[in-house]
Amino acid sequence: MTLPVQPDRFLADLHKLRSFGASGTGKGVVRRAYTPADLDARDWLAEQIAAAGLTPHFDEMGNLFGLAEGPSLLMGSHSDSQPEGGWLDGALGVIAALEVARAAKEAGGPAVSMVSFQDEEGRFGVTTGSAVWSGHMSQEAADRLTDTDGVTLAEARAVLGDRVAGPVEQGRFTGFMEMHIEQGPWLDAEGDRIGVVSDIVGIRSMMITFEGEQNHAGTTPMHLRKDAFQAMVTFAGRLNERFRNVVTPSTVWTNGHVTLHPNATSVVPGKVTFSMQWRDAETDRLGRMETIIRDTAREVAEETGMAVDFGDMLWLDPVAMDGRLKGALADAAEAVAPGKWREMPSGALHDATNVAQHMPVAMLFVPSIGGISHDFAEDTAEEDLVTGLKVLAGAVARLG
Ligand code: GLV
Ligand code: MN
Ligand code: MN
Repeated sequence: MTLPVQPDRFLADLHKLRSFGASGTGKGVVRRAYTPADLDARDWLAEQIAAAGLTPHFDEMGNLFGLAEGPSLLMGSHSDSQPEGGWLDGALGVIAALEVARAAKEAGGPAVSMVSFQDEEGRFGVTTGSAVWSGHMSQEAADRLTDTDGVTLAEARAVLGDRVAGPVEQGRFTGFMEMHIEQGPWLDAEGDRIGVVSDIVGIRSMMITFEGEQNHAGTTPMHLRKDAFQAMVTFAGRLNERFRNVVTPSTVWTNGHVTLHPNATSVVPGKVTFSMQWRDAETDRLGRMETIIRDTAREVAEETGMAVDFGDMLWLDPVAMDGRLKGALADAAEAVAPGKWREMPSGALHDATNVAQHMPVAMLFVPSIGGISHDFAEDTAEEDLVTGLKVLAGAVARLG
C-alpha cells in the first residue's frame, strides 16, 4: 500500500506558510508565538485542515490539532519561529503532516491526525505548548512564564479568544511522528538524504542574575567597582575551564540572551541577567553540569561582593525513539533513498520529547544546507523536502 501524497501541493502550502511573517531577508520568517503573524498562520492552517476533511481544534495553549475520527496516528511539529527564524524549522513537519493526513483521508485510511504545537521556540519556555499538553508543565506554571519584554504567557495567550475549543485527549492517538530539518551539518556534508532519529538530547535552561553596584564610569576606580558585566565574563570563562573534565564533544552550553542594566556607555553596569542553557544526551552529566554552574556562579559572586540569583530551571530529559515507528521510517528510507540514509541523534529539541510521555514517538530528518538553522539563511533543497515527505508517507503506509 502507498499513500498518494502530492509533492506540488505540499511545496505550495509550505511556501504559503512562509508568507505569514516573511522577513524579507531570503526565505526567513519572524513568527513568534501568539503574535499576529503566528495567529494568521494558525487561522490559515485551520482552514486547510477543514478543507482536508479533518476537524480543526485549538486547545488552551493555542496548539492547533487537525483531528481524524477515532484512534489515529498523530503527526506534526510547530509553526512558531525564532526571532530570526528559518522557513522550515517546524513548518516542514506541520505541512508534511497536513499532506500525509490529507492523502490518507483521500485514500480512505489509515487515520492520521496532525498538530502544530505552540511556542516550541521558547518565547516563554522550552517547547511550551507540547510541555503543557503532555502534562510535563502545568498550565498555571506556564502562565507565569515571561518573555524577554516581561509579557506573561497568560497575557499573550489571551489573544486566542474564542478559537479555544478545549483539551485534546492524548489517549486518542496511537503514536507520533515528526519530520524536521536536521539543523546541523552532517547529512549535507556527507551526502545522505535522510536521518532516522535514534534519540533526542536533554536540556536544562535557567536565567542567572549578578547584582553589583551601578556607578559612574569615569570616576569609579577599578578596584572599587562591582561591575556585573565583569562578573558574567569571569563566570563564563571559568565555566569553560571547569566543564572540560565533564563534557563530551557533543555536549553544548550557551549564554544566548543577556540583559545589562542600565546598558549605558558611561555607567558601570550594576546588574546583569543572562540565560544559561546546556544540553547533553545523558541525564547524569546534565546534573553534574548544573552543580558546576551553581557553584561557579556563587564563587564569583562571593569573590566580587555581589549577589547572585538563579531563576527556575526548565528541563527536558533525553528521550529514545520507539523501535517500531523508527523501523517503519528506516524501511521507508531504504525504499525511497537506498543507501542514502543514516540513523542519528538529535542535538536540537523537539516536541516529540514531550509527546513521548504518552505514546511511541519517532522522528525523521532531511539535510540543512550548510548546517544553518535558527537564522533567516536556513534552507533545504526542494528535492530533499519531497524525499522526506515520501519517506514519512511510506512509514505511515507500513504502519497501516
Ligand atoms: C529548538 O528549536 C531547540 O532549541 O532545539
Ligand atoms: Mn523546530
Ligand atoms: Mn527551532
